[in-house]
Amino acid sequence: MRFSNTLLLLILCFLVIIWTVRSVPPLPPVRCDQTGCTVSNAYDVWPDRKNCNAANVTYPATEEELVKAVAYASEHNLKVKTVTKFSSTIPKLACPSGSDAILISTSKYNSAVEIKPDRLTVTADSGVSLRELIDKVEAAGFSIGTSPYWEGVSVGGLISTGSHGSSWSGRGGSVHDHVVGINLVVPATSSEGYAKVVSIVEGRDNELINAVKVSLGVLGVISKVKLSIEKAFKRSITYNFTSDVALEDTFMEHGKKFEFGDITWYPSRKTAVYRYDLRSPADVSGSGVNDFIGFQSNAILISKGVRALEKALETSKSENGKCKTADTTLAYKKLTGNGLKNNGLFFTGYPVIGTQGKLQSSGSCLYSSSLRVDVSCSWDPRYNGLSFYETTAMFPVSRFRGFLLDVKKLRDFKPERLCGIDIYNGILIRFIKGSKAYLGQTEDSVVIDFNYYRADDALTPRLNQDVMEEMEQMAFVKHGAKPHWGKNRKMGFFGVKQKYGPNFDKFLEVKNKLDPKEMFSSEWSDEILFGRESSKYDGCALEGIACVQKIDIVALPMVTSVDQALFIHKLGFADSPRLKFK
Ligand SMILES: Cc1cc2nc3c(=O)[nH]c(=O)nc-3n(C[C@H](O)[C@H](O)[C@H](O)COP(=O)(O)OP(=O)(O)OC[C@H]3O[C@@H](n4cnc5c(N)ncnc54)[C@H](O)[C@@H]3O)c2cc1C
Ligand SMILES: *[C@@H]1O[C@H](CO)[C@@H](O)[C@H](O)[C@H]1NC(C)=O
Ligand SMILES: *[C@@H]1O[C@H](CO)[C@@H](O)[C@H](O)[C@H]1NC(C)=O
Repeated sequence: MRFSNTLLLLILCFLVIIWTVRSVPPLPPVRCDQTGCTVSNAYDVWPDRKNCNAANVTYPATEEELVKAVAYASEHNLKVKTVTKFSSTIPKLACPSGSDAILISTSKYNSAVEIKPDRLTVTADSGVSLRELIDKVEAAGFSIGTSPYWEGVSVGGLISTGSHGSSWSGRGGSVHDHVVGINLVVPATSSEGYAKVVSIVEGRDNELINAVKVSLGVLGVISKVKLSIEKAFKRSITYNFTSDVALEDTFMEHGKKFEFGDITWYPSRKTAVYRYDLRSPADVSGSGVNDFIGFQSNAILISKGVRALEKALETSKSENGKCKTADTTLAYKKLTGNGLKNNGLFFTGYPVIGTQGKLQSSGSCLYSSSLRVDVSCSWDPRYNGLSFYETTAMFPVSRFRGFLLDVKKLRDFKPERLCGIDIYNGILIRFIKGSKAYLGQTEDSVVIDFNYYRADDALTPRLNQDVMEEMEQMAFVKHGAKPHWGKNRKMGFFGVKQKYGPNFDKFLEVKNKLDPKEMFSSEWSDEILFGRESSKYDGCALEGIACVQKIDIVALPMVTSVDQALFIHKLGFADSPRLKFK
């Protein structure tokens, strides 16, 4: 406690002394010079820590220009990947193959947002940002039913990886299940001009739409997305910070009872934060805003300081220090309602009521700020801010209780070992409805997210690495969870093809039809899509890179924390001499 508080205090003093005027929006993901271009993700570090290169990038601003760009690639037999303004996806899905590959960026393809009040739909160019889409829909008196919690995403990019919020009601918490139409630009024959627009409509082209909704960018470039909308509504949110006793018995009822409910579980703190989140009529008063703490601007010095502290605790193997930090963080979240602001400025008490548009997503660190300090998103790569892994697993509802009980068992051995997760956002538990998307969740599911420390270099093991890996393996192997396509370390994608069964083949059939030359494939996206192993190199296992010889998911043993080291060994993960298990 003394250590962390002193450091934070020092940082604060430092901050007050060098008060300057500057706000820093995120770095653009595509950077070019005379020799070519590179594309990175928002964290500026891919899972394999290697750069991704491409020969060239184009910035179409209209559908016509988009078609031209795809035609150019198709005519010249070039590999292509679509990139966005945000590149918020962790896995290397947007990385094209080969030195002559081109990137098509949607960052300037963002002008059209067309609302049809009588049909209850909105159609947007794929490069439109989620925030702009939400604001335009709300300004016209409507709401979008669901969205990811993070607004630093584009319309085309967010559906491509299956992004979601939380809801078992209506069309559900996954945005792709609100999609009713898509325009997709695909390669074509020379007589067709090398590229064409395929217009896909729900109800008419079901095979196509089920494939394209969640398609990881490998079917073509999504040009326009049509979403179903509803009349504007408000929400009323209360967080209940309480005990995690009986969480395994309450999560299901919670998901059913609260239309937008979720639960944040801090296992080491034995705390569950239930989000009571229900729809309210549009005429109820309340101008609340959700400015989620984790997505707020941070003074760069604070982010640096927090990272420095975390590193110091890692180096000194201080579980206790991490637990104190987790306590402080949790207390701060409780005090500030996790970033909810009743009047848009301060948190004054529950419930916080506001429009769907102001509560469904947030990301204030994306924008310039009038704060008189250097601020950025806390993970901004330029300032040695936070660096972490993210594991996101989607469980069929019936499997989730078992996982939860296993984590509780693991926690009960030694709760301190999970503090490293709780200094981030614990385990976020969300609810999504079954989907028809071939690469979506086939049944009603529970999704968990947890973040944990990532070292600056690949060969540094993490404190309690085995605990986090055990959770990861219990989720993906023992309890059969599917990985979120937009997150996870590569290990999470092992055997993903088998998990999707016949739907996976249906997806590939559509892929063969739309992109027979595999222009939109690359070794990077194939590794994710097919859950393929990567080549071995020293330390690859530390990074959760899928560097195994051979794996048969069905034959894997059940995991218990006792046989953890053995299990890792069986997977071939113990190839680094510096990886030691206690
Ligand atoms: C801080 C943070 C918080 C997040 N929170 C959530 C959350 O709450 N819920 C959730 O589900 N996810 C969340 N995510 C993940 C995020 O929603 C997904 O990674 C999403 O896909 C990112 O969208 P993007 O526009 O940045 O697309 P990118 O990351 O740039 O692209 C994603 C993929 O889609 C392809 N693609 C992009 N645009 C097109 C197009 N027009 N046509 C064809 N292919 C295209 C790309 O080639 C790539 O394969 C979060 C991510 C971050 C960084
Ligand atoms: C980049 O692509 C554009 C077409 O979009 C082309 O006109 C230009 O010559 C290309 N530049 C290089 C260096 O290949
Ligand atoms: C919070 O949850 C507990 C049960 O864990 C319950 O007893 C209590 O009434 C809840 N508080 C509110 C404000 O609903």
